[in-house]
Amino acid sequence: MLAVYAARQSAEDPLSGLEVGERPVPTSPPGWVRVDVRAAALNHHDLWSLRGVGLPADKLPMILGCDAAGTDEQGREVIVHAVIASPDWSGDETLDPRRSLLSELHPGTLAEHVVVPARNVVPKPAGLSWEQAACLPTAWLTAYRMLFTNAAVHPGDTVLVQGAAGGVATALVQLGAAAGLRVWVTSRDQAKGAAAVALGAERAFSSGERLPERVDAVLETVGAATWSHSVNSLRPGGTIVISGATSGDAPAKAELTKIFFKQLRVVGSTMGTRDELVRLATFVEAARIEPLIDSVRPLSQARDGFAAMEEGQVAGKVVFTL
Ligand SMILES: NC(=O)c1ccc[n+]([C@@H]2O[C@H](COP(=O)([O-])OP(=O)(O)OC[C@H]3O[C@@H](n4cnc5c(N)ncnc54)[C@H](OP(=O)(O)O)[C@@H]3O)[C@@H](O)[C@H]2O)c1
Repeated sequence: MLAVYAARQSAEDPLSGLEVGERPVPTSPPGWVRVDVRAAALNHHDLWSLRGVGLPADKLPMILGCDAAGTDEQGREVIVHAVIASPDWSGDETLDPRRSLLSELHPGTLAEHVVVPARNVVPKPAGLSWEQAACLPTAWLTAYRMLFTNAAVHPGDTVLVQGAAGGVATALVQLGAAAGLRVWVTSRDQAKGAAAVALGAERAFSSGERLPERVDAVLETVGAATWSHSVNSLRPGGTIVISGATSGDAPAKAELTKIFFKQLRVVGSTMGTRDELVRLATFVEAARIEPLIDSVRPLSQARDGFAAMEEGQVAGKVVFTL
């Protein structure tokens, strides 16, 4: 079958290890199901895997991808949940110390077929296209859990999203606006900030710009480059939810004094549960949210999508179709 896979890893030149070609169709162990992929989406996670982060070298070659929508063996339209818990785990699978994401231990979604545990498929809402549904399992699920499980905010509160154009950032803007939050964004690029406002953000600021008032929560995926600004932008008692560190995980200042003196909460957040994915899909359909899609290409042209993400040239999700 056609697949997009990591054949090698390089921290400096991640695309040098990317291959688009034939791989064997994965077999389904007992209790797992095969999904015929109709659309799959790209995440920064796929670039990290090519850089050697999160994907053990002894697992190469590995089919990349965490996001997919397709049909199961009964012909039902489904969305794939990418968090694979250990077989004996019960409860919140994101807290399973042995959890993995698709494409870390098991072949991922950038392929004609993917196999997952039976509980890792959820119904695709009829109102979502294949491309829209494929956006939800990683960036959108992460945004959903950051906002509605971990940020402790309510309609009318003000939240700051660091970064405006990324997959998680655009999901935060669209979900937050639909839920009645005042969403502010920062961006390195004025045009990307303006695009976020068109998408539902109330205001856009330059990266690092002083805000007119302090916010109730900051949604952080940029990391080192924005950490001090995130701490300084919060009201006393506010919450930073962090789910990524694209610009590095060692900020020049940890801001420990401000964190304890302002009694801030710093909450880590990773992916989401199957139940949260079901609620996310229901919310997106009910609120008529159309996930922002940067581009749609056939899977055979996946390399161009990876290159655009590596260059920071994407706004919303990069989607591949089969
Ligand atoms: N924990 C989890 O479960 C989870 C799930 C999904 C993603 N993540 C992580 O979250 C991060 C974002 O993922 P994504 O898929 O949204 O990636 P992406 O689409 O490539 O987004 C990159 C974002 O980062 C901002 N950015 C990058 N470098 C920056 C810098 N030096 N200064 C300021 N802003 C910068 C960009 O903002 P502008 O271009 O607007 O300035 C953009 O919004 C990645 O590190 C990813 O690994 C974690």
